[in-house]
Amino acid sequence: MTSLAIRLDSVVDWAGFSRAVRALRAERVEPEDVRWRFDGDEGESTGDLFESVVERRASDLTAGSAMSLPRAFVDAAREVFLHADPQRLPLIHRLALHIADDPHAWADPLHEDRLQFERFHREVRREIHKMHAFVRFRRLEDPEPARSDAAFVRALDPAFDVEASSPSVRHVAWFEPAHHVLEAASPFFARRFATMRWAILTPRASVEWDGRALSFGPGARRDEAPSADAGEALWLAYYRSIFNPARVKVAMMKKEMPVRFWKNLPEAAAVPELLAQAPRRQQRMVDDGGVARSRRRGRQDEASQPEPSVPSLQALARQAARCRDCPGADAATQTVFGEGDARARVMIVGEQPGDQEDLRGQPFVGPAGQLLRAALAELGWPTEALYLTNAVKHFHHELRGKRRIHKTPGQHEAIACLHWLEAEIDALRPQAIVALGATAVRSLLGDKVAVTANEGRWLARVDGTPVLVCLHPAAILRAEPARQRAMRARWIDSLRLAQAYVLAHPATLPAIDIDARPPAAMHSIGRAETIAPATVVAGRDGLARPA
Ligand code: URA
Repeated sequence: MTSLAIRLDSVVDWAGFSRAVRALRAERVEPEDVRWRFDGDEGESTGDLFESVVERRASDLTAGSAMSLPRAFVDAAREVFLHADPQRLPLIHRLALHIADDPHAWADPLHEDRLQFERFHREVRREIHKMHAFVRFRRLEDPEPARSDAAFVRALDPAFDVEASSPSVRHVAWFEPAHHVLEAASPFFARRFATMRWAILTPRASVEWDGRALSFGPGARRDEAPSADAGEALWLAYYRSIFNPARVKVAMMKKEMPVRFWKNLPEAAAVPELLAQAPRRQQRMVDDGGVARSRRRGRQDEASQPEPSVPSLQALARQAARCRDCPGADAATQTVFGEGDARARVMIVGEQPGDQEDLRGQPFVGPAGQLLRAALAELGWPTEALYLTNAVKHFHHELRGKRRIHKTPGQHEAIACLHWLEAEIDALRPQAIVALGATAVRSLLGDKVAVTANEGRWLARVDGTPVLVCLHPAAILRAEPARQRAMRARWIDSLRLAQAYVLAHPATLPAIDIDARPPAAMHSIGRAETIAPATVVAGRDGLARPA
């Protein structure tokens, strides 16, 4: 029997695939009569070796008329297309024709193809998340790139002039994704590590970021990636120091960090040794008095669970005090690190210290901080039960005469400080994070998210921690007086969502004592508009403008 093979430019050639589906529909070719082939990936082709096949290139086909398909289907199909299972393309092809003929088919949750489609979709999304979480860059600092380095650069771009390029530091990672997710996962790294030069090598393809654009090239071999470096030794030392034996649940760890990634994760090599030492370390933490005392009555069972020890946050604060990584740090008086309960279940992240925070070395003590503290007091939520910090740890400002005028930190500053924020999150492992303003949201989520459009909405970090998007208190202080009261009421409603979240999610960590003044009602987690308006306590709203 003769069937038709369609050749795509690559396994990620979505444009070629969608063009082919339209063309095949116009020619009335059925999905089961089509085989799919890919340049550079013969092993991936679908079909029977013994059938006779006529091959056509997708780019040579005349695209048929556009198909009317739900946006949600097309968006999901783009990702399902990245699955490694050879049946993904026949599946999308079949489902697309089916939905184009009967738009209600997309709403049928029990349709067999749809179930398979959703399984694939979940697996691809999970792989993208895993890639974001488990890529480990190694630092290359070599004005004369080593042989494997130069080979790698040439492989990415034969015209790339290694000599003329900046000999500065580069970071290279090796990763083996189970699906074809490199291209889809890369923009995240471009945002996260925008000011670094980096590359990720995988067996099928590679990507390089030169600070301006992503360029994709052919695959590489594992031995073309650099081996362990000094930075890695530091990272391992850090990982060892934050590894909490009391928190280790091996089954959960394997679920979150599947074993196939372990061989490329430097810290995974340390895990067996750290697990073996766990009982001893756990005992030492207990002996040191590091046992968490639950402040909520009736939670004695949790009292035996040692919690992250204060020293790790203190140690981070000591290290950060010496940090001058961000541009303009020298103009600040000091580093203003996070502050609060090292067992807090909620972390509040602001933008950067202001003038008064810079002078006092404490976050949220200036006018915006006072507004925040007044709001928390109104909710009956003691600041001592929280951890307050900022995305950027130095006061960035410009001088006008003798006055230091706050200057919104740029991406450079935010990225330079990101490792401190991530280290605070790792040490604290909060159950939820409140992001105040755009800089905090971007640092926490790695994405630009419009704050006003998303105010009161929960978004998830790559590590799964929920992040509540909130206005920055300074935005309320700067607003027209006529709008301030309403803005503040909405803002408090949003903060109340975070409080409701910890109430609604009984802690595996020690509970904070928010029983002192319980909120009038338990609100559902969702958008701020869905909850009852806050009661504004006159005279305690701290709305004084800064002098
Ligand atoms: N004070 C802080 O510490 N952080 C802010 O974001 C604003 C004021």
